[in-house]
Amino acid sequence: MTRGTRMIVGAVVALAVVAGLGWLIFGRGESGPVVNVYSARSHYGTEAVFKRFTEETGIRVEILGGEPGALVDRIAAEGERTKADLLITTDAGFLWKATEEGLLAPVTNAALEKAVPENLRDAQGRWYAIALRARTVMRSTERVPQATAPATYAALGDARWKGRLCLRTSNNVYNQSLVATLIADRGEAAARTILESWMANDPIILGSDTEVLEAIAAGRCDVGLTNTYYLGNKLKEDPAFPVAPVWAEQDAGGTHVNVSGVGLTTAATHREDAIRLMEYLLTPEAQRLIAEGNSEYPVLAGVPSAEWIRGWGEFTADTRPIVRAGEFQAQAVQLMNEVGWK
Ligand code: FE2
Repeated sequence: MTRGTRMIVGAVVALAVVAGLGWLIFGRGESGPVVNVYSARSHYGTEAVFKRFTEETGIRVEILGGEPGALVDRIAAEGERTKADLLITTDAGFLWKATEEGLLAPVTNAALEKAVPENLRDAQGRWYAIALRARTVMRSTERVPQATAPATYAALGDARWKGRLCLRTSNNVYNQSLVATLIADRGEAAARTILESWMANDPIILGSDTEVLEAIAAGRCDVGLTNTYYLGNKLKEDPAFPVAPVWAEQDAGGTHVNVSGVGLTTAATHREDAIRLMEYLLTPEAQRLIAEGNSEYPVLAGVPSAEWIRGWGEFTADTRPIVRAGEFQAQAVQLMNEVGWK
């Protein structure tokens, strides 16, 4: 390389790092079958599952990692020229957005339809869930006994949690999807009442789910609201981490669950192999690897969750179609702004 070329390569690498993008390639060589994946789950411990797929099929998997919104925008901007055969992303809100923009193609497939319950996939087969996470109440195991912990989302607005509640920022899609489902299921007025009661408790607003869990552990607050896998990943490192989930809404509706999912792009050039990878992701072997990689719940019935989260016990999940997290997203963002959720 000349000095000039080195500088250009260096600049490109630096840009990619800044943009949070990076290609991960499983399998060797430039020739032979390949599936290109744009994945917002590249930091979710998914390496093992793609490696296994390549070992079993000889199909290389090239992964471009990045933030979900950025990847959806990129597929839209690249149009017919996109390299992406598959989009894998966290949160039904983003999957919904990708379908709204016409970026995902219908896949009618008996194996996928059998593996993924109807409420966890697009009605036209444009995306299928590959992993599940609950977003529920978290409590300090040192200061909040299970018996007195908030057992519903509304209960986080009870006055006894004033100054004791931690929440993540409202610009986060996980919160937006939860609020979207509250609006879809209870109507906007009821959702507003719940959010106003949370705000009346002067919540400490933090930048990530992990920060919420750490704040509870450190005694800055006693209860919070996070995705389960963040706690799972903490417990994997430190089984004594003093936070436990409370399964919300067990008497009615069930705990809010959201998905990570996969969809075939409309511009896919490796259709057949891409669908083969989709099918593989929903086999028992892949489901176990996915669940253990990020302490999530498998989608496929009969596959156990990671050993370190089994102590949380069984819970009733909300089984209404998760697509409403996308359909009511805009309304949710507006409502969160209106109640002053920072
Ligand atoms: Fe996450």
